[in-house]
Amino acid sequence: MAANADTLINTSALIEAVPPLGADGVTDLARRAADLNKTIRDLATHPTHRKTLRKFVGPEVAALLGLKVETLYRRLDRHPALPQGTTANPRRREFSLEEVFQLRQAFELPAKRAPGQPGIVVSICNFKGGVAKTTTAAHLSQYLVMHGYRVLLVDLDAQASLTQLFGILPHTEVGDDQTVRSFLEGPNFQGQQNLNWTGDLRPAVQKTHWHNLDLIASNLGVYGCEFAIAARLRDEEGFAFHRPLSEGLEPLRQDYDVIILDTAPSLSFVNSNAMFAADGLLITLPPAMIDLQSSSLFFDLVAELMEAFNRMEATPKTYDFGSVLLTRVRPNDTTHAQISKWIRQYFARETCTHTMVQSSALEKVGPDLLTLYEVAEYDGDRRTLERAIDAMNGVNGEIADLIQRALNARAVAFNAAKEG
Ligand SMILES: Nc1ncnc2c1ncn2[C@@H]1O[C@H](COP(=O)(O)OP(=O)(O)OP(=O)(O)O)[C@@H](O)[C@H]1O
Ligand SMILES: [Mg+2]
Repeated sequence: MAANADTLINTSALIEAVPPLGADGVTDLARRAADLNKTIRDLATHPTHRKTLRKFVGPEVAALLGLKVETLYRRLDRHPALPQGTTANPRRREFSLEEVFQLRQAFELPAKRAPGQPGIVVSICNFKGGVAKTTTAAHLSQYLVMHGYRVLLVDLDAQASLTQLFGILPHTEVGDDQTVRSFLEGPNFQGQQNLNWTGDLRPAVQKTHWHNLDLIASNLGVYGCEFAIAARLRDEEGFAFHRPLSEGLEPLRQDYDVIILDTAPSLSFVNSNAMFAADGLLITLPPAMIDLQSSSLFFDLVAELMEAFNRMEATPKTYDFGSVLLTRVRPNDTTHAQISKWIRQYFARETCTHTMVQSSALEKVGPDLLTLYEVAEYDGDRRTLERAIDAMNGVNGEIADLIQRALNARAVAFNAAKEG
């Protein structure tokens, strides 16, 4: 179409209205985005700027301990030294998660692993972005600690979504020595002694607002691990690119029943390390064509990676489990239903029975940096939240069962090796 005078005038007006964007401009955008993130975090965590965890009510505590609420209250009456909960109303007592854990110990509920037995490492993975890896990692870890596990979460994504979900600002509140970076750089990096290197990943661990749930956070510096591992491959004789994370986590297996890795959506050295460190894989997969196509690529790449491990290691790599979790499933979507059915046919043994449904409750609380388990007051129909929590519990209960079975099998081997 030929340009007339009007369009020419309008176009030049538009060019004037939109200034060119140079490096300074982008730096300014980054600064404003960081300010916005801080504003959102501060609003969500007012007034302390730190997240705090809600209390747990009597019926919830009884369910977590596998008791009827009357039985719980009767036992508490009989043992006044136990945490009694706080309340103005004796029929609605509230307990902190730490108190729930104390009750679990006082009632001598079964331990999660044999004394001295190392904990298990689970990687939440898929090289596709936006498939609910971080959502799964956060909810699974919180479910596990509510049920008495000691859990370490490791944020391996430089985007640091998981770190932010715990109310921590990655760029200003996380140092490189609080991420995996300093450790992955090794004791001598680029010809100089690495002063932040401490021999394992313990110093990078920080507490969270969840009792017994600790975090190795992330920040943008975690991108630097790619360069660091490439440099070590070049500089260090016999360096095995896949081993550092596994070695750094080794002593931490004594401190935690479960170590959960939240991975980035990419094939990278850090993800290769996660694949090697993991004992179990949980592959999150929405039932959509585009996600399904990339998951076949994911399996190809993991197979290649395992072959590479096996060429370098004395023992071939095997996982205790490799399970597929259907995520972001829209309940009334016929395409999702059809693809879910196909996935269940082709991966009958691997696919979890429960699915993580796309939940309006999660969409509602997400902007407040809350998980479903953290919500105290819900601005909507409480039944929607309760249904979402029930569905989430179904998913996490099944995965906790997988993890416990793997721990039990390892306990048998561990005890046999100790005795033999
Ligand atoms: N069950 C769900 N219901 C509603 N929203 C969900 C659900 N699961 C995930 N989401 C939303 O989908 C988006 C992507 O989820 P998430 O960040 O967990 O994916 P991811 O795989 O970790 O992404 P990335 O690959 O970028 O790390 C987030 O905004 C999250 O809140
Ligand atoms: Mg993520």
